[in-house]
Amino acid sequence: MRKTIVAGNWKMNASKETVNSLIEGILSGMNEVSSEVIVCAPFPYLSQVESLINNSKLMLGAQNLNINPAGAFTGEVSADMIKDFGAQHVIVGHSERRSLYGETNAIVAEKTKAAIGAGLTPLLCVGESLEDRESGKTEAIVEEQINAVIDLIGIEAFDQVIIAYEPVWAIGTGLTASPEQAQTVHLFIRNLLANSSEKIAKRTPILYGGSMNAANAADLISCSDIDGGLIGGAALKAEDFLQICKAG
Ligand code: 13P
Repeated sequence: MRKTIVAGNWKMNASKETVNSLIEGILSGMNEVSSEVIVCAPFPYLSQVESLINNSKLMLGAQNLNINPAGAFTGEVSADMIKDFGAQHVIVGHSERRSLYGETNAIVAEKTKAAIGAGLTPLLCVGESLEDRESGKTEAIVEEQINAVIDLIGIEAFDQVIIAYEPVWAIGTGLTASPEQAQTVHLFIRNLLANSSEKIAKRTPILYGGSMNAANAADLISCSDIDGGLIGGAALKAEDFLQICKAG
């Protein structure tokens, strides 16, 4: 039985003040939550969140990492640095990084490898654009994105990976994939993993992301291959986020 996981991706939204109130709000409702809950904070706030979630079951993640362990990479942050602040997770391959910062499937695979190498659990994001979907390429795109990672790290390493299916057309648009649309792609991803290892396919959590909110979370998470959510906008309000966490 896979656990339900709900992860908040705050993207580039935070201040010391909002981080305090958001984390306090989430913590105040955590005793009613059985899902695993992760908050992915911008780098400057990792330390603050680390202190605030001390002794709670809330977990911390980052939103990006550099593939190198250390060195002359001005402005970059390594997996070990992220771990140093108590984070256990890191988002890799988010569509915003793929489209705005030129992250290719090969780079995303290297980032996944670097995260696992440092003992972090990558939240590996995949998903098609509207154009891909409309031209019938959803499965081909997702397959390429996942295969690039399997080819580099091997299927066994997926025991340390959480996949997030995030259709680009649903991110921040208020357009959510229907439970049927999402379940179809989630099952496709699970079958793709099963081609290499049925055991790993059964164990790998596959989260849905893209305008998931308090109103639609339960219907999505109740699908057999949807194991939780990666939440953007609705993760910035404690009440909404908690409701999604409770839907799992
Ligand atoms: P929204 O929930 O704001 O659509 O964002 C989803 C997302 O990109 C999470 O990584």
